[in-house]
Formats: sequence, structure tokens, C-alpha cells
Amino acid sequence: MRGSLITSEEAFLTSLDPAVEMLRRHAEEEHTIRLISHNDADGVAAGGILSQLVRRLGTNFKTTCEKRVDEKMVIAVAAEKPSIVIFSDMGSGYLDMFKEHLTESDIIVLDHHLPIKVDAPNIVHINPLLHGIDGAREISGAGVSYLFAKAMDKNNIDLSPLGIVGALADQQDKGEKKSLLGLNKLIEADAKKADLLETNVDLIFYGYETRPIARACAYTTTPFIPGLSGREDRCIAFLKEAGIDLKREGRWRALRDLSEEEKRSLFSALTKHMVYEGCDADAVHDLVGTIYTLKGEEAWTPMRDGREYASLLNACARMGRPSLGLCICLGDRNEALKEAEKTLNEYRRKIGEYLDWVREESRIEEMEEIYALRAHSDIDERIVGVVASILLSTGILKKKKPIIAWARAEEGLIKVSARATEPMAKMGLDLGEVMMKAAEVFEGRGGGHNIAAGAFLPEEDEKGFMELVDRLVGEQFRD
Ligand code: C5P
Ligand code: C5P
Ligand code: ZN
Repeated sequence: MRGSLITSEEAFLTSLDPAVEMLRRHAEEEHTIRLISHNDADGVAAGGILSQLVRRLGTNFKTTCEKRVDEKMVIAVAAEKPSIVIFSDMGSGYLDMFKEHLTESDIIVLDHHLPIKVDAPNIVHINPLLHGIDGAREISGAGVSYLFAKAMDKNNIDLSPLGIVGALADQQDKGEKKSLLGLNKLIEADAKKADLLETNVDLIFYGYETRPIARACAYTTTPFIPGLSGREDRCIAFLKEAGIDLKREGRWRALRDLSEEEKRSLFSALTKHMVYEGCDADAVHDLVGTIYTLKGEEAWTPMRDGREYASLLNACARMGRPSLGLCICLGDRNEALKEAEKTLNEYRRKIGEYLDWVREESRIEEMEEIYALRAHSDIDERIVGVVASILLSTGILKKKKPIIAWARAEEGLIKVSARATEPMAKMGLDLGEVMMKAAEVFEGRGGGHNIAAGAFLPEEDEKGFMELVDRLVGEQFRD
């Protein structure tokens, strides 16, 4: 087993060579490099890594983050007549569109989503799934981009923390004690070698070593603690009730200042709170795990904790300001950071409001094999996936069924976000496949990973689509 694993990782790393050669050629000819990344945290981190890479090559570049690949976007990019386009954290499911419309450009795709098979002489397609590596758990879009940057030049090892941020953003911390696995481990080793990363196991509160406990609790959004995440006032009341002194000798205490006994009582109070909020007892265990501290970042900033960095980028992307996130990945710690922190606050508040909305009335419908959340215009299409993730991961939904949520997008379309748990994937469920197949039937487009996937399609087909998804999920469970 071990032998074959090493081989597939090696085969994947070797598959980067033609991409390295292609980018080198364009850089030597001083072509402008067009970078297009996905508009979520992993995508922004990937875009940040690649922007730094090409900046270091000394070439001009232009980076944008896009919600999705569709014909309109690809045609608009083709009109720019770029010599070379690099797609990151997106593209593997859309090679047919690139082949059709981007005939004048060289193309590199650095992705970890379900790929389709298309051959074209101008496309270099890099995807771990093509080598039997799990793209949902072992490497992210930022991870693929980092390994590419390192293959271009070993000195890019200092970009490894962004690879870690991408993995945490895509919730790839599926190893023991919420640790990273597979190729992500390789990136982790690089980051440690560069003295940019430290790991330890504790309560996963953002800023556990630096922030006042109540704030650390309120700032934590992955895992999401219903009733506390985003609400510092409630956290203060909660901690007081649990008998935790917030201050000592006039100084705010951080989590690391608590005694073992205090930590135990905090944990037991959290357990009670979560169960009271309707969460699964298992969800409480999610609160303890491996903390990824980025040592090169200032102690008080949101970039110090890998998961919080991911939340910051996610907030920027999903609140429609991905360029703020890109600036941060490029090292801006001034204006961009201030704006991004404001955006993160709004994002936390928004998620809290959406969750209240969902839970106020029973908005979630139970179908045969799935839970359905039809959010219409009540949830932003860019955030509906985050809400679906939280509903599932906190165990608020009692039956072991995936959740399929949708919200209105532009031009009569809906955006679907689908989420499943690890045990469901082990039972044979692959939501990426379900979304791809079902969307096709209704002239939409879908894809993704087995546990997190999505689609776009016309709103008028919503009902038929949900029924088909319900049926396909059932078939996968039974096969
Ligand atoms: O496009 P990309 O692969 O970067 O996005 C995956 C998305 O799925 C992320 O937004 C991530 O947070 C989400 N996800 C999730 N639950 C999982 C795995 C991923 O919500 N178990
Ligand atoms: O947007 P959301 O977080 O729900 O997306 C979940 C996953 O599904 C992401 O990895 C995203 O890239 C993927 N997806 C896709 N095709 C779509 C929509 C989403 O591959 N049309
Ligand atoms: Zn990704």
C-alpha cells in the first residue's frame, strides 16, 4: 500500500513538469500571465500563491477570482487574447469550454475538483485525482498551486503557509485530531522546515494564544458554535456562567492561560451549550484538534491562525471582495487588512443571521434521501454553501442525509450547494458526481468533491432537479 501511495504522489509531482516548462517559456518571452482563480478561500489562497510566483518571475500579470466557469466568462477571457491563462482551484470540469473558446492561448489548469477528460495540445491539466490522489482530503487548490510554485523554484517554499491555509479552508483536516493528510503533509513539512509553521493540539478557538477568551470564542467560525460564534456579548455571559475568570490582575486572559481544570469545565459547558442548541454531541469533539499557527504572522492578527486566515479569505471572497484577500496573500498588512477584518465581522454577523433565519421556522424540508433548503433570495448565493456546511457539521440535522441548499443567482439561475459527511462518502455517496449528472439534465452545470459540491441551473427546473438529486443520492447509497 505504502509503496503505491508514494508512487502516485511522485507521479503527480512529475505531472507538474510540462506546466513548469510552459510557464517558463511564456515568462522568458515576457508575456503577461493571466491568472484566474476560484472565488472562495482556497481559490484566493491559490491565486495569491500564483501571483507571488509570477511576480517573482518578473513578468506582468493580471489576477481575478471568479464565482464559476461558464461560457460567458471563458469568452470574455478569450477576448483579452492572453498568451497564457492559468486556472487555479477551478477548471477541471470545464476543459471542453477552454478547448472550444480559448484556442489562441496556452492553458494550465491547477485543480482538485472532479475532472472531465478532454485532450487539447494547448492545455496542461494538473489534477491529483488523475493520479488516484484524493482531491477532497489530501490536497487543495492552493496546495496544487504551491507544489507548482515550488517546482518552478525551490525558493518559493516560503509560500507553503498559503498551501496550508487552502487545505484548512477546504476543511481537509480529516486526519486524527483534525490534522492534515497526504500531500498536505508534505506542504506542512515544508512550512515547518522554513520555520513558518507550528502545530499543537488544543481547543480550536481562533487566537487561542493571544486573544481574550470571550473574543476568541466569538471569532471562531470553523467549527461554528451556534449562539456563540459572532456574538461576543453572549460569549462573555456564557464564560462567566461557566465560572471562567475573564481577567486576572487587570489583564485579559487567553485560552492558553487557563488551567487544565478550567479547560475541562469550559469544555463541559460548551458540550451542554451545543446540545442545548440542538447540536450533535459529536460536534463538540470537533472543537478540539490540531492548531496551525503561522509563525511569520503577527500574534494579534487573523493570519496568525491557519483556520482564521482561511475564514478571513473566505469572508473576502464570499462577500464579493476577493481582491482584498489577494492583497493580503501578497503581503499587504495595512489598508487591505483593515478592510478585510471589517468584512470578516460582517460575514460572521451575516452567517449568524442566516442560521437564525433557517432555524426560526422549519425551513428545511426532509425528502426521501436528502434534506432540502430552498433559500430563494433570503440567503446570498455565495454564502448558501457555508450555511449548508454549518447545518450539517453541527449535527442540527438529525438524520444521516446530505443537505442540498439553493439560493437565487443572477439571470434566472439558482446556485446549489450540496454537503455530505465523511461517513456518507464512505457509504458510496459522491455529491460531485450527483451535481454533475443532475445539472446536465437541466442544462445547468455542476461538480465538485464527494462531500462538498455545487451546481448552477435555471430556477424553473428547481423542482425536477431536487427530485432527481434525491433519486441519484438514493441510488449511490444502494450501489
Ligand atoms: O472549490 P473548493 O474545493 O475550494 O471548495 C470546497 C468548499 O467546500 C469550501 O468552501 C469548503 O469549505 C467546503 N467544504 C465543506 N465541507 C467539507 C469539505 C469542504 O463545506 N467537508
Ligand atoms: O459554492 P460551494 O461552496 O457550495 O461549492 C462546493 C464545491 O463545489 C466547491 O468545491 C466548488 O468549486 C464546487 N462546484 C463546482 N461546480 C459548480 C458549483 C460548485 O465544481 N457549478
Ligand atoms: Zn479548493
